[in-house]
Amino acid sequence: MSKPRLEGKVALITGGARGIGEEAVRLFAANGAFVVIADILDELGHQVVASIGSDRVSYCHCDVRDENQVENTVNFTLENYGSLDILFSNAGVMGSMTGILDLDIQGFDNTMAINVRGVAATFKHAARAMVARAVRGSIICTTSIAASLGGTAPQAYTTSKHALLGLVRAACSELGAHGIRVNSISPFGVATLFSCKAYNVDPDVAEASISAKGNLKGVVLKARHVAEAALFLATDESGYVSGHNLVVDGGFTVVNHSFSAK
Ligand SMILES: NC(=O)c1ccc[n+]([C@@H]2O[C@H](COP(=O)([O-])OP(=O)(O)OC[C@H]3O[C@@H](n4cnc5c(N)ncnc54)[C@H](O)[C@@H]3O)[C@@H](O)[C@H]2O)c1
Repeated sequence: MSKPRLEGKVALITGGARGIGEEAVRLFAANGAFVVIADILDELGHQVVASIGSDRVSYCHCDVRDENQVENTVNFTLENYGSLDILFSNAGVMGSMTGILDLDIQGFDNTMAINVRGVAATFKHAARAMVARAVRGSIICTTSIAASLGGTAPQAYTTSKHALLGLVRAACSELGAHGIRVNSISPFGVATLFSCKAYNVDPDVAEASISAKGNLKGVVLKARHVAEAALFLATDESGYVSGHNLVVDGGFTVVNHSFSAK
């Protein structure tokens, strides 16, 4: 039997209590990793731990807006597992749905605090831990098709996900010297609570609506597909991939059907 792809590796996953993050927690653990879930949804986080097993997964309360909590979570990981090999900085919010003409500035700040500042804080403290231990780690964050296209999400969200591409490139340039890879994943829509709540629809309605807009037909994008992309970037199978934005969008961001003859 082949070795599990993440055997003995230690991973920290923010936003791991539900949705894409939860799927990544399950997949990483199934592939042999020890995983720390960092989230603000304590009850859900503990339920995920109980369902997988506390020998493999643990939960740490962490609001990524607060740098102290981020630092404490990295320390919690080091104290419990002795190392940190993989950061999947995935926590994010859709935030205020306002457009530019009625932009909710406070809401804008909150979206940026979670989606950009929070991710930057996790990069900082995870990278420090890796550099101090000479770990050639993998750092991954979740962007979106809204990282490269306008008009697919609210203003603040689009701005925040574009910013993450810059953060990834800047961190990649600095951490390459330490053998640390930094990448992002850009999913198309997934019918998690994130999208269902934002558009106030049930998962099946959200899924049908997302799929109707998608380019690749006959496949429904699931959290599992995004987790599989994260797993690839976490393993040595992507050993020379850094600074990359891995789109998981069925081609949506590279096609435009407006001129199609059909
Ligand atoms: N679902 C989609 O359609 C979609 C598409 C592209 C990108 N994304 C991105 O994927 C990531 C995960 O989204 P999801 O669909 O699983 O959504 P979700 O809402 O199901 O999960 C997000 C998780 O992040 C956590 N979180 C929110 N604010 C936090 C904070 N301040 N500190 C710590 N944790 C916090 C939540 O509690 C939740 O567990 C997000 O970054 C999102 O922007 C989602």
